[in-house]
Amino acid sequence: MSTHNVWTHKGTFLLAAVGSAVGLGNLWRFPYLAGENGGGAFILIYALTIFAVGIPILIAEIMLGRNSRRSPIMGMRFLTRTHKTSRGWESIGWLGAASAFIILSFYSVIAGWAIHYTGKMLTGSLEGADAETIAAGFDALLASPPLLTLYHTLFIGASALIVGLGIHRGIENGLRILMPALFVILMVVLVYAAAIGDLQGAADFLFTFHLADLSLEGWLEAMGQSFFTLSLGMGAIMAYGAYMSGEASLTRTAFTIAVVDTAVAMIAGLAIFALVFGAGLDPAEGPGLMFITLPLAFAEMPGGALLGGVFFVLVLGAAISSSISLIEPVAAFLVERFDLTRPQAVSAMVVASWALGLLTVFSFNLMAEGTVFHSLFGRSAFGLLELLTNIFMPLGGLLIALFAGWALTHGEVMKEMRTNETWFSVWRFLVRFVAPAAVAFVFLRTIPQVEGYWIPTIGAVVIVGAFAAGRTFLAERQES
Ligand code: PFF
Repeated sequence: MSTHNVWTHKGTFLLAAVGSAVGLGNLWRFPYLAGENGGGAFILIYALTIFAVGIPILIAEIMLGRNSRRSPIMGMRFLTRTHKTSRGWESIGWLGAASAFIILSFYSVIAGWAIHYTGKMLTGSLEGADAETIAAGFDALLASPPLLTLYHTLFIGASALIVGLGIHRGIENGLRILMPALFVILMVVLVYAAAIGDLQGAADFLFTFHLADLSLEGWLEAMGQSFFTLSLGMGAIMAYGAYMSGEASLTRTAFTIAVVDTAVAMIAGLAIFALVFGAGLDPAEGPGLMFITLPLAFAEMPGGALLGGVFFVLVLGAAISSSISLIEPVAAFLVERFDLTRPQAVSAMVVASWALGLLTVFSFNLMAEGTVFHSLFGRSAFGLLELLTNIFMPLGGLLIALFAGWALTHGEVMKEMRTNETWFSVWRFLVRFVAPAAVAFVFLRTIPQVEGYWIPTIGAVVIVGAFAAGRTFLAERQES
């Protein structure tokens, strides 16, 4: 059954996709990865990947959604039937749904930290605090399961509320208020950071390219980050694409999403590093950049409490506009497949993902380094979930590129793209050859990480494979 829902306006898809793309990936992950990997060189690879690999896959993913007009799982099933291709391609939908479900579980926990810091900033309780106090405060937050669970629950609950209200009343209306507000806040933060921080130092750091500074690991991080930041391979873009107007241009829309997303990452990077350098702090702090280094910079500057509060509201808003896009693909599937009402479907997805999120909560305390879990698996549960998505995400992107590039016929794709021959050929070349090669390269990075986990990995592959084979067998018997 097709839902035949479409966004109210031709431009709403763009708004929703930008909302999905711009998130913790831009404000938290991008700056700390750039900081750890030497700035400019990292950004060069990141930007090249966005344009040569990210945009072609983005176009492909939107196309699959719009063409099927269904949630990713049902949509891929529909496309394999109508295009008479192997049913194996249905795995794209399942892989996407699984990744969305897992990512939501830890994305919500980390976004929850921003709730904590919004409060800390706005109440002025960090004003004048020194480095030790701020670091100890972050450690204390991570050590507290009740506090982390509370924030996780609040964040995921708010996201569920928006999606539960439906694509028009909830998602569209929410984004129409949220996105312009985020843009204004970002500008305010940039102007203030430029006024009191070291903007020149930040620009030098971000835009001086010394490729030699970049390790292989840094290359791979940059490429992985460009998939994450564009929300690729997880069904989010496909689910939103299902509601996209048939008139909007695929190529132009995909290009705009990538440009806006990259611009936000750069502006956030400039503002954050201007503040960090202005306060004489270290850019290479890793994941603590936003939650330790930045609060320290805010603690020391005039008006820092208010600016810090506003900044963390920005982080929260950007995170929520992304988390709703992680709920939508799974919720839409539950509605289509099991005839659940939207609130029922959203609740089912979110409650399960919330429960999985508790593993991430406990990864920082009850199951942290030195505990039985950690010794048993060699890393935290959060680390394992991240590893899983690091595998699923490029795999999903790879399959989407291959499906759109090789399985769909020239004529069908041409009809959907409605672009000229030259652009079409460029896209097809990128999606057939360049994207799969680049994604395979990123994928290989996870192999050393998988080392030592052969048994769980093979176990997971066997379970998923058996499940897929079983379903195909049953479906074929039903048909014959
Ligand atoms: N693109 C989001 C970010 O940069 O924070 C994260 C994300 C959202 C990834 C939705 C995947 C997704 F489906």
